[in-house]
Amino acid sequence: MKLTIKTGAPAAEKGELIAIALFEGESKLGADAQAVDKALGGIVADVLKSGDFAGKLNQTMMIPTGGKLGAKRLLLVGLGKPADLTVDRVRQAAGKATVAARDLGIKTFSTAVFGLDAEDIDAHATARAFVEGMLLGNYQFNVYRTENKDKHKYLDGVTLLAADKAQAELIGEAQAEAEAIADAVALSRDMVSMPPNDLTPSTMAEMAQKMAAEVGITCKVLDEKQIKKEGMGSFLGVAQGSIDAEPPRFIVLEYMPNGDKEAPLVFVGKGITFDSGGISIKPGEGMEKMKYDMAGAAAVIGAIRAIAKLGLPVNVVALVPATENMPSGDAIHPGDVLTSMSGLTIEVINTDAEGRLILADALTYAERYKPRGVVDLATLTGACVIALGNQAIGLMTNDDAFGEKVRQAGERSAERAWKLPMWDDYFDLIKSDVADLKNTGGRAGGTITAGAFLSKFAKNYPWTHLDIAGTAWNEKGSAYVPKGATGIGVRLLVELATEYAAEAASAPQPATLKAAAKAPAKTAAAKAPAKAAAKAPAAKAPAAKKATKK
Ligand code: BES
Ligand code: MN
Ligand code: ZN
Repeated sequence: MKLTIKTGAPAAEKGELIAIALFEGESKLGADAQAVDKALGGIVADVLKSGDFAGKLNQTMMIPTGGKLGAKRLLLVGLGKPADLTVDRVRQAAGKATVAARDLGIKTFSTAVFGLDAEDIDAHATARAFVEGMLLGNYQFNVYRTENKDKHKYLDGVTLLAADKAQAELIGEAQAEAEAIADAVALSRDMVSMPPNDLTPSTMAEMAQKMAAEVGITCKVLDEKQIKKEGMGSFLGVAQGSIDAEPPRFIVLEYMPNGDKEAPLVFVGKGITFDSGGISIKPGEGMEKMKYDMAGAAAVIGAIRAIAKLGLPVNVVALVPATENMPSGDAIHPGDVLTSMSGLTIEVINTDAEGRLILADALTYAERYKPRGVVDLATLTGACVIALGNQAIGLMTNDDAFGEKVRQAGERSAERAWKLPMWDDYFDLIKSDVADLKNTGGRAGGTITAGAFLSKFAKNYPWTHLDIAGTAWNEKGSAYVPKGATGIGVRLLVELATEYAAEAASAPQPATLKAAAKAPAKTAAAKAPAKAAAKAPAAKAPAAKKATKK
């Protein structure tokens, strides 16, 4: 979907459709709405008066203009009460409007940027959220459909109307940022939506490599031999159930614009491309959903892509242990003891508690970067879905200040996280009779005991764990999140990196670092490839290989 910015008023715009936003309970229309209302003989005021359209958040109404306006249709979009307006509400209304227009079957429309004149919210953030909402809402995953391709509705382009030149410039800057973020979320959603016969550890590694080449960052992939050499016994334990059929990969992505001197932020993502449960096999019903057990991996891969494309002056590393969790004659048994890379031994009580086993070694691997902070994202526990539902990420940390930073990044990006306790008492639940640790702590407090287990491997740096089991997949869909993969975590991590970049720019520091912070253009992960990649669409899913054989 191509976005074009132009100066002009909605009432003067020709074409298939114009969209304007209205607040709830506002007696006086804004200038744009007034002009449109006048041309249409007072119909906007009428529908507001009758209550047919109340301006409630995400409410939409389509009105044919009957030739009285340049545009054939007028789409009214509700923004809710003015006092309740937030940047995320703008994001939502934009998503809703875009999908409503698309579903009419038209190819183009024009719209003002909703909420741009609102006093209490920042104009740049509003414009960015507006474009994000449009692009995120418009996302579709159709690569695997072969029938009725021609009936499939999509938008070619949208014209964003600016009041004047200054506003056009502001929207243009915001658009570039929003596109970098939306592309990354789309990549993440694509990976999560892909079936597990196509999105294997190897193809995930290939997609990461392709992405890295596009945005000019480094990507290293360890195969099973190298993983073994690193001593990742815990990760390999999970991988051994499908070691020949689908071998594991350990993906390392590095974006180091500030060179080796600055400690990086390290993002770790759980990359279970299919979680059958292993020998402790899951019930059949709903098992197909366990393709999304690599949503943490998809989030960190998407996030580092966006961060590189935005050229943020902050060092970031993404680590992904990628494997299936399958039962087989080679698979680990309940009762097995694994030796992790850290040296700690782990008694496997339940092979379905595999996420923490692969993350344990990734967290140890992270130590070599002497990170300023590590955030791991994982669809780790069903208990998190029970505790927080699909509305919040579960957050646990070994450093309250760092955890709070992560939480606030979630707040600002509307990917909200809620902190759970990590009191000593919980650690008693994961003590083993035969090894240092056991991999489950029972049903009660399942999210926290999983976090407690991870913390045993996150010893030497500030660390925050995000359990995204409830937020990575969405059954119903919402304003800018179509049903299915949400791409959760990408915006939170980009927001976190943005904050570190801003801090670096404002803090007193050595001249070289300062230069790097101000001018990311000439640093390692060059701006040039980043720019070249700006037009490239999110990595496309390879056509179904095994799936479509007839
Ligand atoms: N991937 C699952 C957790 C999960 C469940 C994610 C539902 C998304 C939706 C994880 O590997 C798992 O199976 N966890 C077990 C742990 C238990 C055996 C201690 C669980 O939550 O039941
Ligand atoms: Mn599992
Ligand atoms: Zn799992």
